[in-house]
Amino acid sequence: MSFKDNIDKTRLPKHIAIIMDGNGRWAKERGKDRSFGHRQGVESVRTVTRAAGNLGIDYLTLYTFSTENWSRPEEEVNALMTLMVMAIEQETPDLMKNNVRLSAIGDLERMPSEVRERLDRCMRQTASNTGITLVLALSYSSRWEMTEAARQMAELVQKGELEPEQIDSELISRHLTTNF
Ligand code: IPE
Ligand code: MG
Repeated sequence: MSFKDNIDKTRLPKHIAIIMDGNGRWAKERGKDRSFGHRQGVESVRTVTRAAGNLGIDYLTLYTFSTENWSRPEEEVNALMTLMVMAIEQETPDLMKNNVRLSAIGDLERMPSEVRERLDRCMRQTASNTGITLVLALSYSSRWEMTEAARQMAELVQKGELEPEQIDSELISRHLTTNF
């Protein structure tokens, strides 16, 4: 019996989120440099996306690059950005084949234009796919997300379109980036 056969399909979550970590350590253990680990990370993303899609999971969020990651050495940040552009381009046919819709959350404005363009193109291309939604969290942190939500609601209050008393957990949810 395979691992998949052992999964109780009636108790699957709708949304799975994965914090990508350990790429560097994984590579170091094998005597390779960190970039080798990051490239291997792309392979893991492909495997996990396919598996989650096959199981019928609705959303898979990958915490790919956090706001904190901007403070890594410039060389590593640049290598990660280049890898992202290449990976998105390389994986798009596979996303199409597997009916995966790509989406992104985070402070995308902060991402280099090449990443944004590639991402936008892939999101447009996969927009009408009906299988799993793969959400890349890029330049993301929960502090950033809360700040954004607070700013949006403050603007509505300022415009007179929202009363502070109307702010409840449901409204906050609607202002989070996960409100697809
Ligand atoms: C995760 O692996 C990849 C990113 C955050 C981009 P790390 O780069 O954090 O690898 P370790 O944790 O240093 O091994
Ligand atoms: Mg780490």
